[in-house]
Amino acid sequence: PARLAILLSGRGSNMVALVQAVQHGGLAGLAEVAVVFSNKPDAPGLATAAALGCPTASLGSQGRKRAEFDAEVVEILRGYQPDYVVLAGYMRILSPTFIRAFAGRIVNIHPADTHQHQGLHAYEWAFDNRLPETKITVHLVDEGLDTGPILAQHPVDLRGAETLAEVERRGLAVEHFLYADTLARLIRGELPTPAAAPVATAPNPTSEPLV
Ligand code: GAR
Repeated sequence: PARLAILLSGRGSNMVALVQAVQHGGLAGLAEVAVVFSNKPDAPGLATAAALGCPTASLGSQGRKRAEFDAEVVEILRGYQPDYVVLAGYMRILSPTFIRAFAGRIVNIHPADTHQHQGLHAYEWAFDNRLPETKITVHLVDEGLDTGPILAQHPVDLRGAETLAEVERRGLAVEHFLYADTLARLIRGELPTPAAAPVATAPNPTSEPLV
């Protein structure tokens, strides 16, 4: 099975959906969780991962220089020999060092169409603009902010959603099946391989620091 390193910074609901898919869902037999890693040692998702029986690791990023911190994270992750690095609410922009260490094997889920919205607060953006629909995007990570090749998108019907909480509830339901489903197809070789996928190289001028 493909070895997944799942990275998170907070709640970890996408991590839970992935672990459940590995344990008895669409990723069973295809993937195993090598480690769940967090840049926040007290992230609730880390305790949840341990309770689910996953190996866990953490290294606090607060106050650390990005390149130095990422170099240490790369060393930690390498110890678990991951085939894919799966970002699940990992609220850090990755340095080029990190991206190159796992080139073409880093996957992210973004709660909007990455052509329309990048960075933080994607559900707030959809809600504030009263969008009738938003799109969840699973993409490979390149050196820009949410610019990498798209692997899958799925719409979320937002008509009649009157609160931000309702927008998030509908969106997360899509995130939770789309991420596992897309990883299964990626691992089975049903999606364009990283080498074949077009790689966007333009850095995003509007990128805001995430931590
Ligand atoms: C999810 O909505 C994920 O798509 C989003 O953070 C949330 C994490 O929730 N990621 C981003 O906004 C990345 N730019 P979770 O910890 O419950 O999975």
